[in-house]
Amino acid sequence: MGGKSMMMVILILLLGFVGVRVVKAARLHDYGDALTKSILFFEGQRSGKLPSTQRMNWRGDSALRDGSDIGMDLVGGYYDAGDNVKFHFPMAFTTTTLAWSILEFGYSMGSDLNHALEALRWSTDYFLKATSKPGMVVAQVGDPISDHTCWERPEDMDTLRTTYVVNQTHPGSEVSAEIAAALAASSMVFKDHDSQYSRWLLDRASKVFDFANNYQGSYNQSIGRGACPFYCDINGYKDELIWGAAWLSKATKDPKYWDYVVKNMATLGGSFSEFGWDSKHSGINILVSPAVMNSSGSPFITNADNFVCSLLPDSPTKSVTYSPGGLMFKPGGSNLQHATALSFLLIVYSRYLHLAKRSVHCGSVVATPSRLINVARSQVDYILGSNPLGMSYMVGYGKKFPQRIHHRGSSMPSKIRYPARIGCHDGNNYMVTSSPNQNALVGAIVGGPDEHDQFLDSRLNVSQSEPTTYMNSPFVGALAYFKGGR
Ligand SMILES: *[C@@H]1O[C@H](CO)[C@@H](O)[C@H](O)[C@H]1NC(C)=O
Ligand SMILES: *[C@@H]1O[C@H](CO)[C@@H](O)[C@H](O)[C@H]1NC(C)=O
Ligand SMILES: *[C@@H]1O[C@H](CO)[C@@H](O)[C@H](O)[C@H]1NC(C)=O
Ligand SMILES: *[C@@H]1O[C@H](CO)[C@@H](O)[C@H](O)[C@H]1NC(C)=O
Repeated sequence: MGGKSMMMVILILLLGFVGVRVVKAARLHDYGDALTKSILFFEGQRSGKLPSTQRMNWRGDSALRDGSDIGMDLVGGYYDAGDNVKFHFPMAFTTTTLAWSILEFGYSMGSDLNHALEALRWSTDYFLKATSKPGMVVAQVGDPISDHTCWERPEDMDTLRTTYVVNQTHPGSEVSAEIAAALAASSMVFKDHDSQYSRWLLDRASKVFDFANNYQGSYNQSIGRGACPFYCDINGYKDELIWGAAWLSKATKDPKYWDYVVKNMATLGGSFSEFGWDSKHSGINILVSPAVMNSSGSPFITNADNFVCSLLPDSPTKSVTYSPGGLMFKPGGSNLQHATALSFLLIVYSRYLHLAKRSVHCGSVVATPSRLINVARSQVDYILGSNPLGMSYMVGYGKKFPQRIHHRGSSMPSKIRYPARIGCHDGNNYMVTSSPNQNALVGAIVGGPDEHDQFLDSRLNVSQSEPTTYMNSPFVGALAYFKGGR
């Protein structure tokens, strides 16, 4: 064999090797299947009268008298997690991030786009009810202490369905401003699908924002034990007000909202590397970044870049930790809420950076847009099963996934199989048994493993085994992006 043909063989081998690697990387997970399931999950969390299109059919109607204690119709909305309370603060954040997922990546959802729109509308229809009276906003339905005493299917629920409101004398700017953000973001999603509905959402968003801004205070104090210690607004409501204004600015293009964002951002404390139901900090910076990307020295860009540098494994200013298997960790429970939300932001920012032909500099480490995508992909793949246990943390995806999720409805026999009522404490056996759950809450992402990549798959470990709507909502966007592959 001559030198030249030897080179050719090597070249062909090399190309073959590269080719195989690319194909393998692309096929590591079925992002389309995971996307379908991540959206289906929301049907399992539905409260109220289920429509004929309901696909998760082990669920039935529930909480059909919600709101009757204050003479309002508050039927509908979502249960936030494994219990049967409608906590509007995290529900609104779920809605905002689901809307953002659709806005950015709806183009690659295919036939799942309609299901995603249906999931979003299930929320916005409900928030239109919760904000239908001027001068007040319904902040929550269901007494969490009464609810948590029982292990009951939502369809059997007989716990206190107390309605908690915030108003001018008892304000709740975090919950109100997050609802305003959710309505404004959703109005943008529905613009091309139902323009009349879109205008209705936007009009309500601006009214609810005014209420949140004119009567400032925390629902912590106003509704007391209804909200806190369950979803305490730990870091204050200034971030939600700015976040609400940022979405209204994007949706209306009215300069008064942009002025509000710029003016108030200057005095917002807290860490710009946080994004979740309580803290909107890094979300604000990334959301507004396209508008200021080319103005050098913009504080929004500095903050957004700092957010990236707080996450990259080799960044000198990294503030998260990584498990040996490569999962991102932040303090507090239900860790996958961080991995899902932060990955979504990385993908969104990466696309904005790409359009502006920019990279992020973390000390001497240069992070290109594709580097951000790779970090996000590592988290998504970990969640889908590329981890030391070879376990997917999405119910129903892959060969091995959590069987004992902390979720009342999923753990108990369905109404179809067992129509008789199962009372408050009669469900306890289904909670403590080591048997698998009876109904698959397909698509649910659970709190996930510990810092050593270990997972107990036990209903008793709430922080590991409970799903929440706000873990799925940004993940919908991340999966749609990787499904589209661009
Ligand atoms: C305002 O909200 C508080 C707290 O939810 C409630 O106790 C009070 O009755 C409300 N006031 C009015 C006028 O509705
Ligand atoms: C809400 O309550 C929590 C827990 O008590 C507290 O840490 C936080 O500062 C409160 N937030 C506001 C805005 O009052
Ligand atoms: C920002 O700069 C990039 C690269 O020069 C350019 O392609 C883009 O159109 C600019 N964007 C805005 C909003 O001016
Ligand atoms: C439950 O999970 C947490 C977080 O992953 C872990 O630190 C803890 O040890 C577990 N608790 C029990 C009782 O196993």
